[in-house]
Amino acid sequence: MVTIKSAKEIECMKEACRVVALVYKELEEKIRPGMSTAELDKIAEIKMRELGAIPAQKGYDVGIRGIPPYPAATCISINDEVIHGIPSKNRIIKEGDIVSIDTVALKNGFHGDAARTFVVGSVSKEIEKLIKVTKQAFFEGIQYAKPGNRVGDISHAIGEYVYANGFSVVQEFQGHGIGRQMHEDPGVPNDGKAGRGIRLEPGMTLAVEPMVIQGKHDILELEDGWTIITKDGSMSAHYENTILITEKEPEILTIL
Ligand code: MF3
Ligand code: CO
Repeated sequence: MVTIKSAKEIECMKEACRVVALVYKELEEKIRPGMSTAELDKIAEIKMRELGAIPAQKGYDVGIRGIPPYPAATCISINDEVIHGIPSKNRIIKEGDIVSIDTVALKNGFHGDAARTFVVGSVSKEIEKLIKVTKQAFFEGIQYAKPGNRVGDISHAIGEYVYANGFSVVQEFQGHGIGRQMHEDPGVPNDGKAGRGIRLEPGMTLAVEPMVIQGKHDILELEDGWTIITKDGSMSAHYENTILITEKEPEILTIL
């Protein structure tokens, strides 16, 4: 079900989203080579709780037999890992890694969701471009996030932009509505036909999240039941914000 948020609910959404933005500020300051992904996860969780929120991903259960509940506050996916990497004390961040972090805060009954890809040290021009294109794909998409337009208009703009830049988008995972639930309708694919899908209305809140692969779009799932990697071993980046559809331009809630 697509939910339209009231003014009061929008205030709650903004609160939860602000927490996520502050968590990323903290992570950006703290991330460095030599640190484990479990350490980074702890930093995120502590900051979130300090700000009065609960890490909603921790214990999140997709309800599919054989897939364990998600064990951490963040997903941390390095290099060829696309999404849903599980933080571990054995996974050490190295100079030259690209580190995608995804986290969701729950505060006063509402969720805020965002993802960022951080560069640790320096990377090649091509990888810098991958990260830039992934972020820009989000902004290309949300240009269409206006009343009267359809979800497919956002998807189409994201996919077009990514492929025009020589990269590909993940087809199996998508953005989503968000509110009292972490995942609400509608799905927001990162590729597709313009003019399709539901019409956007003020008060809808969406997590728009391009997941971009340097090479081919094919992915594989690891045996942990969570981690998604690129099939061709090429690098991947992720950029996500929770947005609010208004009468005019969308508001990006997870940027300070
Ligand atoms: N935050 C992710 C999203 O963008 C969800 C990750 S799945 C979880 O939808 F289990 F880690 F929560
Ligand atoms: Co999301």
